[in-house]
Amino acid sequence: MSSEAYFTLLLSDSYLPGCLALVEALRGTGTTKPVVVLALDQLAPESLAALESAFDSVVPVSVINNPAPRNLISLGRPDLALSFTKLALWSMTEYDRIVYLDADVLPLTNLDNLFSVPGVLAAAPDAGWPDIFNSGVMVLTPSKADFDGLYATAESTESFDGGDQGLLNTYFADKWTRLSFMYNVTPSAGYQYMPAYVHFASQIKAVHFTGLPKPWQLNRPSGPTSTGQYDDLLTKWWAAYDASAPPEPESSGPDLADQIGAMSVQQWDPAVSEPPKSTSGEALGLPSVSYTNEWDKPYSPETDTKFVPPEL
Ligand code: GLC
Ligand code: MN
Repeated sequence: MSSEAYFTLLLSDSYLPGCLALVEALRGTGTTKPVVVLALDQLAPESLAALESAFDSVVPVSVINNPAPRNLISLGRPDLALSFTKLALWSMTEYDRIVYLDADVLPLTNLDNLFSVPGVLAAAPDAGWPDIFNSGVMVLTPSKADFDGLYATAESTESFDGGDQGLLNTYFADKWTRLSFMYNVTPSAGYQYMPAYVHFASQIKAVHFTGLPKPWQLNRPSGPTSTGQYDDLLTKWWAAYDASAPPEPESSGPDLADQIGAMSVQQWDPAVSEPPKSTSGEALGLPSVSYTNEWDKPYSPETDTKFVPPEL
């Protein structure tokens, strides 16, 4: 019997709201496929408990380190090393076919037809460089040979973006099947083609909130969402999140820097309270830190340099 499942991945406690909204939205599409999360073994116990009650299955995974981290160290980008953990998808060989969705993806329609898309890997073009695929939505077949092949490629070739997307595009170059962009529309990316967005809006199957801020770091749009397309999508994300009935995200409000700081470090102030009670070892109470990708930082025209093409 063939075994198919949706998968996502949680590498940092700060993305938990994304996972909860995603699983809720998937169930809302009427799928009967199991929804599985690969959960980094360093997550807070509260995150793991929330995943356990929302997902059909929680599979603990250890970090897969970037074995060639020279660029990451000199760039000060250790967060990108964690993203190689996505390769663990190819080791899930008890599944015949996986539809993988990043935790910042929101399905808007049933996506079950993706399970029958043929090919070694199917994905949608990246909005920033459409000759490659975006690795936030992928249809894949777990395979020990591909897992080993990906690992070997990671060791022999540096990922061109320092993360999983560069590595996966190098390994699956010329082998991937192109999905419609409708399966991975990135409305928050720097580049937007608004007339096309308006023209195709009703056919969008999944949106991917790449970049910052993430929906859970923004307030719910107030009132009717006539202010713009993005608010519309944000309202849909919050509807899915609220339907999953989780606690309020630790902070929400307009000050993004404060919010990210608050969400990425578990806080205990010894000056004002007893240490948190933990029955499962004090290491679990250590701060869990997340890092921000370069492309996730808000664009600032004053301080950010623009891309200047080389003279040919
Ligand atoms: C892109 C993809 C994301 C991936 C990252 C690093 O942002 O959407 O899934 O983790 O690149 O390669
Ligand atoms: Mn993403």
